[in-house]
Amino acid sequence: MLDDMLDYLEHIRQRPVWQPIPPAVRAAFKAPLPEQPTELAAVHQTFMEDILPYAVGNAHPGFMGWVHGGGTPVGMLAEMLAAGLNANLGGRDQIPIEVERQVVRWVRTLFGFPESASGLFVNGTSMANLIAVLVARTGALGTRVRQEGIAASDTRLVAYTSAGAHGCIAQAMDLSGLGTASLRLIPMSERYELNLGALEQAIHADRRAGLTPFFIAGTAGSVDVGAIDDLDALARLANSEGLWFHVDGAYGALGMLAADIAPRLKGIEHADSLAFDFHKWGQVPYDAGFILIRDSALHLDTFSSPAAYLKRASRGLAAGSPWPCDFGPDLSRSFRALKAWFTIKVYGTAKLGEAISRTCALARYLQMRIETEPRLELLAPVSLNIVCFRYCCQDPDIANTRIVSTLQESGIAAPSLTTLNGRVAIRAAIVNHRTESADIDALIQATLEIGAAHSKTHMQSKTP
Ligand SMILES: Cc1ncc(COP(=O)(O)O)c(C=O)c1O
Repeated sequence: MLDDMLDYLEHIRQRPVWQPIPPAVRAAFKAPLPEQPTELAAVHQTFMEDILPYAVGNAHPGFMGWVHGGGTPVGMLAEMLAAGLNANLGGRDQIPIEVERQVVRWVRTLFGFPESASGLFVNGTSMANLIAVLVARTGALGTRVRQEGIAASDTRLVAYTSAGAHGCIAQAMDLSGLGTASLRLIPMSERYELNLGALEQAIHADRRAGLTPFFIAGTAGSVDVGAIDDLDALARLANSEGLWFHVDGAYGALGMLAADIAPRLKGIEHADSLAFDFHKWGQVPYDAGFILIRDSALHLDTFSSPAAYLKRASRGLAAGSPWPCDFGPDLSRSFRALKAWFTIKVYGTAKLGEAISRTCALARYLQMRIETEPRLELLAPVSLNIVCFRYCCQDPDIANTRIVSTLQESGIAAPSLTTLNGRVAIRAAIVNHRTESADIDALIQATLEIGAAHSKTHMQSKTP
């Protein structure tokens, strides 16, 4: 199995990025619950034949869809060790939790947070953003909210984020009971960054209406175009207005590891909370999200609960309080920290930072190729590693939607689709450390060929 996976990663270029799942393969997964055992070798063979070839393909250098990290063999091996240990990191006195605490300390140092800040591995930034909203909610309404719920309070809390923010911020408002209608989506500048003047106006209008502004979420690396909000200005505004300042740095925050990107994240060190993923730009295998909270006492007050079966002790296995389960909703927690710890130790932050810078250099190369190709049009400024563009033709929205599906089915490259200012865009997010300029060239060439074929069919269908 180990040989197979190492071979898979070593020779991944020879495979299609993605391929449609044959109906027979899909149907095989409808087989009933097995009562009798199957030989391990046979199950492994099924994995090799029916599972491995039909994954999303984000380990492949041609994968550029959504924001998916590529993973590494080091992370894969660490995951195997973690599974072998079968550690449950909800709590108890064990070294795996010290590994997680060490990563928390590294993260604090990286982002200039104080030693008193708390941190936790979670499955992803969606969960990390939810935790941030919940801690900020406790900060605004007091711990009473945990017993009484928000309905018991006359205070109507309102939050703010950019219209380009990820949908999980709205979801966090929903899940926390505050409601998506209490989230203001602030318009963006032409660079897709949150418009500060509009934010200030919205806060003041809400105060005049008797509402209570409490939370601003800035974005470091927006999902559509990779824009970075002016975090420093947001931190100042949040401070002067007395609001919680959260940063959704799902993929962009780890730009802190790259010398050319770190200065653009100035202000992140003032955040009250920061959410990000090691599984995106950090190249750690899925899943490895992270939440960092400046005020650890408030963090603890938001989640810790007494339970007889979780009673702490000063010695024995029940020592070592507070436990990770006191800082989040999960009691059963896998040893996610190990694959992040291995990745950081084996590669070192400098090399991880270089890989991040390289993805941005490749995005600039793609931008240059688009700008020098009259049949292609850039649709948004390239801030980091995301490039949005389209094939120019008569029916661009239909054509580019088809081009993306055909590109994915071709196995050559797998960008995804988005809509910017009402225009359908091919979106290439270069996250994988394996991607090279040849992969960008292949994307361009295939886009032009598929676009030309589409235009030809379109013209033919229009010709009487
Ligand atoms: C800006 C931003 N926030 C949040 C998320 C959600 O992260 P996750 O998928 O890890 O929950 C993403 C995912 O791409 C993102 O780009």
